[in-house]
Amino acid sequence: MKVLRTVQEIRDFAGEQKKAGKRIGLVPTMGALHEGHLSLMRAAREKCDVVIASVFVNPTQFGPNEDYDAYPRRFEEDCRLLEGIPVDAVFHPEPSEMYPEGYCTYVQVDGDITNKLCGAQRPGHFRGVATVVTKLINLSRADEAFFGQKDAQQVVVIRRFVEDLNLNVHINMVPIVREESGLARSSRNTYLSPEEKEAACVLSRSLQNAKKAFEGGERDAEALKGLVAKEIQGEPLASIDYVELFSFPALHPMEKVTEDALLAIAVKIGKTRLIDNVILEGGRG
Ligand code: PAF
Repeated sequence: MKVLRTVQEIRDFAGEQKKAGKRIGLVPTMGALHEGHLSLMRAAREKCDVVIASVFVNPTQFGPNEDYDAYPRRFEEDCRLLEGIPVDAVFHPEPSEMYPEGYCTYVQVDGDITNKLCGAQRPGHFRGVATVVTKLINLSRADEAFFGQKDAQQVVVIRRFVEDLNLNVHINMVPIVREESGLARSSRNTYLSPEEKEAACVLSRSLQNAKKAFEGGERDAEALKGLVAKEIQGEPLASIDYVELFSFPALHPMEKVTEDALLAIAVKIGKTRLIDNVILEGGRG
């Protein structure tokens, strides 16, 4: 596996692959890789000739009081996992390579899809994500890029700017990977104590309860959100940031679930903010 650290190195690598007629798959990550990331790598491996992963803790998507400094960094271990897939190249730049002195260009996705959920709670977050993902797509010359459903709003935002900016890449959304307990895999799970990890199962449990109610015929959005909230409120270590339900992928508010819907939550377990979601399919009947 090639380790690419500079803009020039990834440009040269992608150029060679294109010249050889290869289809390039990009998997952007912030490292501290887990099974969720590896499922993205495998999806890319299956669909593309060449797989480029990126490992870059992107400073522009963190707010001033967020966990940029504390975010887990373990590049050597990440490389071992990537080699096991195998991935062809990993792009691991310094922040100054991506945002050199004088840098002042950002991709801003306005409106209805960014003013809610994590967009409402983390001002500037999606501007940072959209900027870095645009740069990574350009640099890697990807034909396909792969993102996890756990960050479903991120996928909606990325699909929006890819369409708006006429980027020639297909965006794939890969299902959430969970631990046996139901807890969605996340690099931030490493912040949890054993007791908190057990408490964190309330996220997936509450969503599964609501999904069961939906499958049993419940269509009222407030009732479905209420079920989730009640379950989370019963867990002493948990505090709710949001419990929301929107149409998917448009992210419009809904009173009754009559089309595909995203039931999404953000919950603090101790000091750690975790997100999870479930897609309620169809809604008719
Ligand atoms: O989902 C993530 O890990 C990040 O938001 C991404 C897409 C790698 C951009 O930094």
